Order: sequence, then C-alpha cells, then structure tokens
Amino acid sequence: MPQPLTSLPSGPIKGRVSVPGDKSISHRALLLGALSTGTTRITGLLEADDVKATAQAIAALGAQVTCEPPQWIVKGRGVGGLLQPDAPLDLGNSGTGARLLMGAIAGHDITVTITGDASLRARPMARVLEPLRQMGLLVADERETLPLTLIGTSDLLPIDYVLPVPSAQVKSVVLLAGLHAPGRTSVIEALATRDHTERMLIHFGAELSIENSARGRLITVTGDAEMHGCDVVVPGDPSSAAFLISAALITLGSDVTVENVLINPTRTGFYRCLEEMGADIVFDNERNFGGEQVADIRARSSTLRGIRVPAARAPSMIDEYPCLAAVAAFASGETRMEGLAELRMKESDRLAAIAEGLQTCGVPAAIQGDALHVTGGAQVSGGGLVQSQMDHRIAMAFLILGLSATKPVTVDDGAMIATSFPAFVETMSGLGARLKSSAGARL
Ligand code: S3P
Repeated sequence: MPQPLTSLPSGPIKGRVSVPGDKSISHRALLLGALSTGTTRITGLLEADDVKATAQAIAALGAQVTCEPPQWIVKGRGVGGLLQPDAPLDLGNSGTGARLLMGAIAGHDITVTITGDASLRARPMARVLEPLRQMGLLVADERETLPLTLIGTSDLLPIDYVLPVPSAQVKSVVLLAGLHAPGRTSVIEALATRDHTERMLIHFGAELSIENSARGRLITVTGDAEMHGCDVVVPGDPSSAAFLISAALITLGSDVTVENVLINPTRTGFYRCLEEMGADIVFDNERNFGGEQVADIRARSSTLRGIRVPAARAPSMIDEYPCLAAVAAFASGETRMEGLAELRMKESDRLAAIAEGLQTCGVPAAIQGDALHVTGGAQVSGGGLVQSQMDHRIAMAFLILGLSATKPVTVDDGAMIATSFPAFVETMSGLGARLKSSAGARL
C-alpha cells in the first residue's frame, strides 16, 4: 500500500537533533564483521530496512548477528569462512548491500542467488560482475540484473582494476573479493569516492595501502587476509542530515543543529555547495569519532544564490543531489549541476525524477545532457503530486521543498523513507515541520 505524505508551509524549524548512523559505514561494519574471526560490536548502527537486509544476509551466510541495545554484535566466520545459504538472499532496496555482498561471497565455494525489490532488480550489476568475473566468479545467468545466481570459487585471482565509473561500491567489491585472492589486488580511481571500505579494512587488520599515482588514487589490498573482530562506532549520516539542514536554510526564522555528523571529506560536497550558495552553516565541535571526523552542524535561515556545481564534485555528494535541487529552488538565479550521469543508476533515475518533481512544483528545471539546471527564486508554488519512484531520497527532498512552498506538496509514497531514515517524519515534526499522512492527520 502506498503511503502518500504531504508537507505544508512551515516554519520556523528549530532544535538540536541527531540523525541515525551512516548507511555506508553500517553496511561495511556488518560485512567486515562477518569476514572477521571473533566478535565485532557495532554502536550506532543504522537500524533501517537497507541495513537490516544486509544483517539478514550475513546471518544466512553463517555469521551470528544479535542486537543487544545499544550494540549490534556480529560473530564472524573469518575470510573465506562464509557458508552456503539455504535460500536466495533478498537485499530489498539496497544497491550497496547487494553489490558489496557479491564481493564478499565471490571467494567462497558457494552458490548464492541474490535478489531485491523492483527498484533494485532494475539497477545495473554489470559494473560489479565485470571485475568479479575477471577474478574467477561465475554467473549462472545471462542477465546482468537481479535476481542473479553467483558461483563463487576459493581460487580467485588477484587483479589490477581501473574503475570505469567513480563508484565506491565497485571499488569496495574488488577490495572485498581481493581479501580472498592470493597476492595483491589493486584498484585505481581517477576521482576519489567515499573511502569507508579502506578505513574499515585497516581497522579490522587487513593489509592495505593507498598511494596517489598519475592515474589517480591507487588502493592495494593483500589477499589471504586475516581480519579480527573489533569495535565500530558509526557516526551520524551526512546524507540524512542534509535534509534537516536544508529545511532550516529555506524556512524563515529557523535554527537547527544536527549533532555528530560524519564530515569525512569524501562525503561533504553538498555542504561545500551550501557554503558557496551563501548558507549560514557552522561546523562546530569537530572531533575524531571512531576513526572518522564528525561535527555538530548548525544551520540558520539563509538568503541563497544559485551556483555551478562541477562534475568533479559529484562523487562526494552523489546522494545529495535531490536535496540540493530542492534547496536550489529557493536560491536566486540558476543552479547548474554537472556530471550527473551516475544519478540515473540510483534507486530511481534520479535525474529524471528530480526534474519532473521540480516541474510539478512549479520550479523551472531542465536536463541538458548529464547536467541539471534549476532556476530558483523566493516563490515556489508547490501544490503538486510528486512521484517518488520508490526512491527514499526523492520523497524526502520534495517533502523538504514543500515546507517553504506556497501550497502543500504531496509525495505519492513515503514508504521507502524507511530504507535509510525511518524516523524522518518524527524528527522533522519534532523540529516544527508540518507533515501529514494522506488520511489527513498531523504526524
Ligand atoms: C555507496 C556508494 C554510492 C552511493 C550509495 C552508497 C556506498 O554509490 O550512491 O548510496 O556505500 O558505497 P556508488 O558508489 O555506486 O556511486
């Protein structure tokens, strides 16, 4: 059953909140815990549908996963120790879960079928199958979309792989498979993508080196690795914080602080854009938190101007374009976001979904090649029904836009928000945002 949600003109948005744990780090903590011997204790794990799907998958592969609040505990099987599951693994909506899992299982003599929901079954898997095939993985199907049956091997070959697209998922898949291959497996990325896999592999005791080469960042992992369970603390997700910060910037009289947000430079492109747009945001109390930098981010209502967002910045803000587009609707002049081809590969074709949603809300928006132009201004009419396309970030972005539009904005289905930010509606309402369900009740 679709769950339509409506946001009404609101403000001010005020308060101090935290956001749930970072999704990327949460998936990796579970997977590396499963590939380690001994016990991994994870504090702050994102308890959302995507991460729960990964937890179920590693349990089906023989790891022991339990929740003893506030910790999640994984008793791992060690590199090469995963077991044949009894049934297909369903990763729901999670591209990260499905793809990283392929890297983790490739080096085992097991046959595993991986599937997911309609959105995930439409997403490209060739990008990860290609390097895994080079390493020795067999795929039982002709298709390159889920469901796929993978036939792993304990005789994987190490490879040197140049990423054809800037994708942290593809990089991570090769590194995870490389743990199981004898010798050294390396990946070169021309543009730096999020580096949580590298950081966490080192944290779990794998041998990994990073160098800057003429062709880009060269990451090398040594195979036949031994990793040991350890403690992981997960910082707040900057991709979830983006919605709360944006709500404060575009609504009058607002003042919001989001605590303990990850500010790893491979993830902060969105915040750099906001600064260039003239946003009143302050990074306070910067500190190290479990091997990652975090800060409390304060945002106040701001007068914003349009900017040009260069393609090279895309990997550091790839999940934030829906939110940036919502903010751009309220910035004077044009915001031009370049190099967005990868947005078409996400939970939906985000480039199309953003442009259509903006047009529905009366905001001039156009796609030119792989760039998006948004013409902003103080007055956004709103009033439309936005198609979320089974995409959590499209749903949240347009609910944020509706807070400062003249007329309410309804998204056709907010159910997918649970994949990354289950308490989104409660958190926003607690800050003073007016959101309601289709039944008409205030949430
Ligand atoms: C992720 C990487 C990104 C991002 C996704 C999470 C990760 O995808 O869009 O939400 O955890 O590695 P790509 O690496 O495919 O761009």
